[in-house]
Amino acid sequence: MNKYEKLKQQINPDRLPRHIAVIMDGNGRWANKRGANRLFGHKNGAEAVRACIEASVEIGIKYLTVYAFSTENWSRPEDEVKGLLKLILDSLIREIDELSQNNIIVRFIGTTTNLPPDYRMKVDAECQKTWNNTGLNLNIAMNYGGRVELLDAMKSMIPDILNGKITTNNLDEMMFEKYLYTASMPDPDLMIRTSGEKRLSNYLIWQSAYTELYFTEILWPDFKKVAFLEAIIDFQSRNRKFGGV
Ligand code: IPE
Ligand code: IPE
Ligand code: MG
Repeated sequence: MNKYEKLKQQINPDRLPRHIAVIMDGNGRWANKRGANRLFGHKNGAEAVRACIEASVEIGIKYLTVYAFSTENWSRPEDEVKGLLKLILDSLIREIDELSQNNIIVRFIGTTTNLPPDYRMKVDAECQKTWNNTGLNLNIAMNYGGRVELLDAMKSMIPDILNGKITTNNLDEMMFEKYLYTASMPDPDLMIRTSGEKRLSNYLIWQSAYTELYFTEILWPDFKKVAFLEAIIDFQSRNRKFGGV
């Protein structure tokens, strides 16, 4: 039995995280170590995404949300930004049929601000092919920022405030969450960040209020199925208290 199969047996199916969020970090450093340009790192990072998706399907994770491009990543050099946008769309187009055959539902979450006008249209045309599926929910956080998400939620609430659907008396957390990009999804139970950085970088800041955080030194392109299961096993050893005793 290989290491992956052994780890799979250690996983407690009754305590699976329903939702795993991943900050895929370290592509640039991975490429730099090889004397290659940053885009080479991003291209190799795509393989690690595939590995996490496969493992999620195999063990029965319901939601996987991966951070592909943040609202702050526009500050990178223009050729890197252009390359990343193209890589994300090209990978989606290349993989969508296989993802759909595996019963995966693919969604993009994020804002359309600053994206080329037809970008989100092209993305949605691909994603729609999967929306009747019933397996893993794969969310790609693309042009995503937690603060912008909160502002977008507030902006989309305004009509419902004006028409009286939302009042100071009935607005609570559950109602507010209906306006987030992640409406109707469970909060992440586990958040994984690779490359040794220990911060949220504006990722799912509302949703991660009680998320278990897992940090690893592994650079994203090297993060494969074994590392993914190790993170889940670590999560299963934790005692979640949610403010209780
Ligand atoms: C993560 O890798 C991918 C994106 C942010 C798009 P980085 O590009 O941030 O890699 P490092 O942090 O420079 O190594
Ligand atoms: C977070 O990584 C964003 C993504 C993984 C897409 P960054 O590399 O952009 O984060 P910082 O700048 O180190 O906080
Ligand atoms: Mg980084």
